[in-house]
Amino acid sequence: MRISRETSEQVRNVADIVDVIGEFVRLKKKGSNYFGPCPFHSEKTASFSVSPERGIYKCFGCGKSGNVINFVMEYHTLNFPEAVRMLALKFSIPIIDSDERTQKVDDKRELVLMALNAASEFFTNLLFSETGKNALQYLRNRHFSDEMIKKFNVGYSADSWDMLYKYLKKKSFEEDTLEQAGLIKRGDKGYFDMFRGRVMFSIKDNLGRIVAFGARRMNDDDSQPKYINSSQSIVYDKSRTLYALFEAKNSIRNLNYSIMVEGYADALTLHQAGISNVVASSGTSLTNEQLQLLGRYSKKLYIVYDGDQAGLKATERGIDIAISQGYELFIVRLPEKEDPDSFVREHGKEEFDQYIKKGQNFLEFLIQIYRTRGDFGSPSYKSEIARSLLKLISKIPDKLQHDDYFRIIASHLNLSENQLITLYKEKEVSNNAAAVKASEENITKKELSNDSLNFQEIQFIYSPKSTIDSLLPEEKLIIILALESKNNINILFDKYNFSKNLLITSAAHKLFSLIVELSEENTDINRALTEDEAIDPVLKESLILLSMLDEKQSDKWENFGAMPNENKSATIIKDCVFKLELKALEFERKRLTALLKTNSIDTKITKQIIQIDERRSQINDELIGNDSF
Ligand code: GTP
Ligand code: MN
Repeated sequence: MRISRETSEQVRNVADIVDVIGEFVRLKKKGSNYFGPCPFHSEKTASFSVSPERGIYKCFGCGKSGNVINFVMEYHTLNFPEAVRMLALKFSIPIIDSDERTQKVDDKRELVLMALNAASEFFTNLLFSETGKNALQYLRNRHFSDEMIKKFNVGYSADSWDMLYKYLKKKSFEEDTLEQAGLIKRGDKGYFDMFRGRVMFSIKDNLGRIVAFGARRMNDDDSQPKYINSSQSIVYDKSRTLYALFEAKNSIRNLNYSIMVEGYADALTLHQAGISNVVASSGTSLTNEQLQLLGRYSKKLYIVYDGDQAGLKATERGIDIAISQGYELFIVRLPEKEDPDSFVREHGKEEFDQYIKKGQNFLEFLIQIYRTRGDFGSPSYKSEIARSLLKLISKIPDKLQHDDYFRIIASHLNLSENQLITLYKEKEVSNNAAAVKASEENITKKELSNDSLNFQEIQFIYSPKSTIDSLLPEEKLIIILALESKNNINILFDKYNFSKNLLITSAAHKLFSLIVELSEENTDINRALTEDEAIDPVLKESLILLSMLDEKQSDKWENFGAMPNENKSATIIKDCVFKLELKALEFERKRLTALLKTNSIDTKITKQIIQIDERRSQINDELIGNDSF
C-alpha cells in the first residue's frame, strides 16, 4: 500500500530516535547527544552518535547517517514504506492511506495477523502442556531443543474438533477473521479447526509476523498427508514467503550469502547447529518473488536441496530463476539419501561447512549432471546441451560474465569458443526479433481494440541495456532530466501538466514511476540507486546507465547551446512532452478511424477525431515556436 506523506512525517516527528536506536545500541548520554558503538560496522570505541534534538544519527567511523526512518531501513533492511509501517505500529500512529477501501482491508489484515499470532501462542503453550506430551517427545526425538522450538514458535494442535476455534472465539475473534486466517472451516455441524493433532511450524514474513502454518503429521505410518499448509490468504502469499528468513536475515547480511534448503526441519536443524543464514523454500519450487525478497539481504546463494531426484529437479528449476536475477549461485549436492537435516545430525556442523565450501558453480554443476544423462561424444547430445546452456547464460544480466562462461562450456564440451559465440549471437538475434515481433503484434492488437489508450502492456525485454533501447527518444530524455533534478520533475508536472499516461512504452512507465516514487519519498536518488537493495535490479541498473548518458550534449541539442541550463532543460521537457502527446494522439486517432470503419458513421467518434486534429495543430504550432529540430 501507498503510505501518505502525512504518515511518514508524523512518524518522523513522533518516533523517538533515541528510543528506537536504543533498542539495538547501548547508548550513553553525553551533553545533549547520545553515543554508542556503531551497529553498522564493528568497532570498540563509541563513534556512533544520536541527536534527539535534530532527530538524526551519525557514525563518525563509517559515515552512515540519517533520520529515524533511515535507521530502521538500514538496520532491518526494509524499504521505505515497510520502515514507516513498522514505526507507525510501534508508536501507535494511524497509517493514513488516501483510499478508504485499502484502509478497511488493512484493518482486516491486522485482525487476521492478530488471530494467527494468538493461534501460534496457543499451539506452543499446548506443546509444553500435558496434551502436547507426545508431540514434544516427537520433537525431542528429532533433537530439536526447547530454545529452538520457542524461537521458531513451533507448537502442537490438539487432536480435537474445535479446541482452537473455541479458544479464539473466547478471545472475541470473529468467525470471518478466523476463516480468513485459514484457522477454521465451516462444516455441516458448525465450525471446526483446520489443524488437528499435528506439529505446527509457524511461518513468518520478513518482519517476523506469523502469516501461516506448516502442520506435520506425527506418525509417518499415517495415511494422512505429511504436511498440511495454510492456503493463500490476505496476509500469506506462498510465493513471496521464505521460511526462517526473519531469523536468518541479519546473519545473511553479515555473512553476505544465504543457504537455501527445502524443508522446515532442515532450516531448524541448521539454525540449531549455529548455521543461521539458512532459509527454506518449503516444498514449492523456488519463485522469482522469493528470490527478489532474499536478494535484499545478499545476492550470493547456496542451494542445498535433498540428495534425491526430486531435490535435483527442484535445484535445476531454481538455477534458472536465480541466474536471471543476477545471483552469484552455488550448488551443494548431498549424498543421495540425505537431506540437510539428517546430514548435520549424522555428520555435524564441520562436515556440513566443508560441503558448503565445496559448493559448485551452477555451470559446473549442470555440466556434471548432463554428463550423467547422456554421451558427450554424441554430436547431437553435445549440441543440445550447448544450446540449452547458452540459453541459460544469455539470462545473466551482467553481460561481462558471459565470456567466462563460454570458456567453461567450450572446454567441457570440447567445442571452440568462437563456435559457441556464433551460436550465441544467432540466438540473441532471434530472441530479440521474437520480442520485437511480439510487441508489434501487441500494438496492432491494442490499436484496434476498443479499450482506451493504454500502451503500458507492451512488454520490454528484461535487461538494463534492452530496457533502455526500448525507450522512445522523448521518453529517454524525460527520464534523464527527471533523474537530474527534482526541479525538472516539478516543471514536468506543474508547468506542462505531464501525466505518466503519456509515456508509451512499459519500460518508460516503470522507470519514470520509480523516479517519482523515490523523489516523493524524498530519497536521495543517487544513494537509492547504489544502495537500496529493495529496488528491482534491472530498473536500478537501467537508471544508473541513463544517468551516465550525456544525451543532452548530442548534436540535436546544440541549438540550445547558449541557453542557461535551467531554460535548456525546460525547453527540452516541453519539446518531449508535446511530442509524446502527439504520438499518443496519433495512436488514438488511428484507433478511432478503425472504429469508424467497423461501425457506421458515429457523430461522437467523428467529433473526437476533430478534437484530436485541433489539439494536434495546436501542438505543432507550439513546437514550431520552439524552433528546435
Ligand atoms: P521432515 O520429513 O519432517 O524432515 O520434513 P521436511 O521439512 O524435511 O520435509 P520434506 O523435505 O519432505 O519436504 C520439504 C517441504 O515440502 C516441507 O517442509 C513442506 O513445506 C513441503 N511438503 C512436504 N510434504 C508435503 C505434503 O505432504 N504436503 C504439502 N502441502 N507440503 C509438503
Ligand atoms: Mn526432512
